[in-house]
Amino acid sequence: MRILTRRAILQSASLPFWLGSTLQAQAPSRDYDESKVRKYALPDPLQGVPNAEAWRKHRRTELLRLFAENEYGRKPGPPKGVHFAVTPVDENALGGKARRKLVSARLSKHPNGPEINLLIYLPKNQSGPTPIFLGVNFRGNHTVNTDPAIPLSTKWVYNNGKAAINNRSTEASRGMQSASWPVEQILARGYGLATFYAGDVFPDHAGGYEASILPLFYQEGQTKREPNEWGAIGAWSWGLSRAMDYLETDHDIDRNRVIVMGHSRMGKTALWAGASDPRFSMIVSNCSGAGGATLARRRFGESVKDLNTTFPWWFCENYRKYSDNEDAFPVDQHELIALCAPRPIYIGTAEQDRGSDPKGQFLSAVNASPVYKLLGTSGFAASEMPPVHKPVMTTIGFHVRAGRHDITTYDWEQYMNHADIHLLNRAGRKS
Ligand code: GCU
Repeated sequence: MRILTRRAILQSASLPFWLGSTLQAQAPSRDYDESKVRKYALPDPLQGVPNAEAWRKHRRTELLRLFAENEYGRKPGPPKGVHFAVTPVDENALGGKARRKLVSARLSKHPNGPEINLLIYLPKNQSGPTPIFLGVNFRGNHTVNTDPAIPLSTKWVYNNGKAAINNRSTEASRGMQSASWPVEQILARGYGLATFYAGDVFPDHAGGYEASILPLFYQEGQTKREPNEWGAIGAWSWGLSRAMDYLETDHDIDRNRVIVMGHSRMGKTALWAGASDPRFSMIVSNCSGAGGATLARRRFGESVKDLNTTFPWWFCENYRKYSDNEDAFPVDQHELIALCAPRPIYIGTAEQDRGSDPKGQFLSAVNASPVYKLLGTSGFAASEMPPVHKPVMTTIGFHVRAGRHDITTYDWEQYMNHADIHLLNRAGRKS
């Protein structure tokens, strides 16, 4: 009998998607005692920055480079020869409530080369270009809604009962993530939604490199990534930028109001995409936790070491230098938030999601605020952790939702309220 270590179980390609989070949440080594949080000193994003111009010209570039070199890895620009294939638009999707577009971004000239399949829903009867949320989904576009016209993803997925067998999706998985993607509500508020499956660019498991887009960029003779080169989060965020390349060309979409969003590992991804690609006008991170909005130096809940041990393919290899060594990390996650300034950003957390350290995410917002203020925005208004369901709606938005690690319609409502206020200049709705 083969005895699997906890690490081997977590890295197994057939591990059900939810089990990773469950085992992680139970990890014995984690610290959940606020009184045990050690003293730490955060790096100052405004160090050596006398004015806004110095931030824009020098410091921003320096911080971006430090995040690339030490955490997410360097990522390339678009490959040559990308082209977008758009299938005919369905003007009467979702029972007549939506317009649906299916776009395939072909990333190489090779007919069987990698492609990103983008699913786009737009509200009907919208006059003018539509503001849109863009995010990566965990299990295939067909899981986002029961709409039978969404092609079933043929890519690798986590095994999952009848929904995914032999690492391939089955018809039983249609719409199974629809609670996380409330398409109808999003459309009713006048926003569109665009999404693609993570596995189009990097299958989310330890052996995912081969089938990812990384080899497309290997230099002559290269067989693996360098220590400062991208992993899965880098690749997913790169995919978001390629999706943006398409959205910019589509006249139905408001290219100046594209909101990059994501939950959990895709929240980390959305933050890195927003920090590194200024074309995103707003950034939303939902329960992104460690390696996302949470301060690494607090070491509360999931730690850098946990991430490097359990999900080594998400980050660059250099990130391993900071396992149990956070003070040597040349940046911290509040500076990732600051890299999104002055664009509106929203950090959603959940009370029971202790592994993601809601307070550490709140403190990131507090410590990113001086950069936002320097650039002339309201920054972050709260100095105390707000109670549950009392969202903060300044340029940096924040809430703690009751409940567990998840993305719910409550979360989406806050994100749309924030976008209403900061992107559309209209009052958000009371919820
Ligand atoms: C695990 C991991 C988290 C991550 C989450 C998710 O729980 O430890 O860092 O955010 O998976 O993506 O669902």
